[in-house]
Amino acid sequence: MNLKDCYNFDDFRKLAKKNLPAPIFHYIDGGSDDETTLRRNTESFSKCDLVPDILASVGEPDLSTEVFGKKIKMPIFLSPTAMQKLYHHDGDKASARAAEKFDTFYSMSTMSTSSIEEISNISGGPKLFQLYIHKDKSLTDNLIDRCKKSGFNAMCLTVDTVVAGNRERDYRWGFTTPPKLTLKSLLSFALHPKWAINYLTHEKFQLANVSHFTKKGSSIAKGVMEYINEQYDPAMSWKDAEYCIKRWGKPFAIKGVMSIEDAKRAAEIGASAIMLSNHGGRQLDGSRAPFDQLPAIADAVGGKMEIILDGGIRRGTHVLKALSLGATACSFGKGYLFALGAGGQKGVEAVLQKMQDEIKRDMILLGCKSVKELNKSKIIFR
Ligand code: LAC
Repeated sequence: MNLKDCYNFDDFRKLAKKNLPAPIFHYIDGGSDDETTLRRNTESFSKCDLVPDILASVGEPDLSTEVFGKKIKMPIFLSPTAMQKLYHHDGDKASARAAEKFDTFYSMSTMSTSSIEEISNISGGPKLFQLYIHKDKSLTDNLIDRCKKSGFNAMCLTVDTVVAGNRERDYRWGFTTPPKLTLKSLLSFALHPKWAINYLTHEKFQLANVSHFTKKGSSIAKGVMEYINEQYDPAMSWKDAEYCIKRWGKPFAIKGVMSIEDAKRAAEIGASAIMLSNHGGRQLDGSRAPFDQLPAIADAVGGKMEIILDGGIRRGTHVLKALSLGATACSFGKGYLFALGAGGQKGVEAVLQKMQDEIKRDMILLGCKSVKELNKSKIIFR
């Protein structure tokens, strides 16, 4: 199996599973507790159906939308995800280059294995930085100021990961960062010699944005979850969010908003966007799927701020359903990480190409000339 055999999410996932040592594959693939929310994020899209308009003379549909003050050519972008060099030795560079080719946002995690400066040097495409608030507040200022200097276009603050989720697959498979040879993982690394050689012969694993601040940044002794519990500020508040918005002064999203009240409050403190998200089902298991919550959120804050639907997107039709119910754009994490593991930059390009083709084809079938025409009338709930 290789990239040209990948037609959809399941295919990229299968190839990534073949390429990656098991602890790393399961770190991407897993959710928290019983993984109920992880499953439901995608299932929720099948609660409603699209209703096409016929003979609508669509021709070439316009897939572009505007988000974070930038016009992007397709209404989906790459969510921020941590430690991409574990999935492919090019890590964030591969993702950023692929996103630039498709004229959509690449997002960088605070926990990236490439630095803000490295990525801004190699990509002129639209870039979003994802912020985690550490107990050491000077780190927040440092990250915001460096993103300004490096020309990032937008920022988001993740609010659903103040403590680490309970990822039982990681305990079971012995996921550590950096990957360590333990009895448990030895066999898995030995079975993936290509990955192991690439990992060992490329730049050393480090959390490139924070390693100069926290000793743990360059060598997280046990795992990323311990890092989160030690370094992130569990007392983070609306005041901190407002501080970040002001210091940044450009388009800003709160990521992990789920309630109507919180969405309204995010607008009040000056956020230009919310990312409706439960962290890919990796944090609070049993929390509501973003798509299920979208209509109520759109009623409350639609038109006042941008709404990004993040969670469970696997198909172009999922994007079209979300846009019909009021999302400005969508983002996905697992959707491109498996492709990164499957084939680096080429893999991410392949997944973006497939997504673009699907959205375009589906818009023609739906009788839609532009994403602006998508609204509730295109959807019926069963
Ligand atoms: C995760 C965090 C680190 O989901 O974003 O693994």
